[in-house]
Amino acid sequence: AGKKKIIITIDGWSSCGKSTVAKQLARELNYVYIDSGAMYRAITLYFLRNHIDWTNTEEVKGALKNIQLDFRYNEHSQQSEIFLNDENVEYVIRDLVVAEKVSEIAAIREVREFAVKQQQSMGKKKGIVMDGRDIGTVVFPNAELKIFMTADNAVRVERRFKELYEKNPNVTIEEVKNNLEMRDYIDSNREVSPLRQAADALVLDNSKLTMPEQLTIALNWVKERLPA
Ligand code: DC
Repeated sequence: AGKKKIIITIDGWSSCGKSTVAKQLARELNYVYIDSGAMYRAITLYFLRNHIDWTNTEEVKGALKNIQLDFRYNEHSQQSEIFLNDENVEYVIRDLVVAEKVSEIAAIREVREFAVKQQQSMGKKKGIVMDGRDIGTVVFPNAELKIFMTADNAVRVERRFKELYEKNPNVTIEEVKNNLEMRDYIDSNREVSPLRQAADALVLDNSKLTMPEQLTIALNWVKERLPA
């Protein structure tokens, strides 16, 4: 049985370290890691670039027909990267310009249906770690392991600021803080699949935990669900 593969979901607030844990966990278990937020970000990038009026449902539907998303593994960075219509957008989608609009676009019903369908098909073979906001509640409600991550607000702002500052020294703490608060608000108050902790999720608060400590906790949870 040691080869049994499971689905692991990691949901939580913006910038609380979900992707770091998810990536390490996937590497450790030899699973596929999928960053569902990257899909919403890539769709947002497409909408911005093509001046799509996303308040218009017909326009949104038409635009989605022209969007092809896929994840390709990059040997060099040793991680899967997202491609939008065959263009690697893994890095551009991290810009604050995209972050400022992504929550609004991720709240659109048609956008979510489009993304969720693809996410579910990626989980068919199991052996996957997916992070996001609604993965344990909507995308994989039957996942074997659901983790809900949290961290203190100040810790999250600081982490996110450091990340963005490396790429753009003009970014301010205020901007980052406002963006996080706004995204948390929209993500948890939207009508379609709001951010919620699944009833059967295990909480990982990493405000005071090092990365190795977080990984150890998560791996123990996995072991409990993988009979040898
Ligand atoms: O995880 P992230 O910060 O890259 O996600 C970007 C945005 O996408 C986030 O503000 C909300 C949205 N999102 C979502 O609605 N559902 C998901 N499963 C993942 C992300």
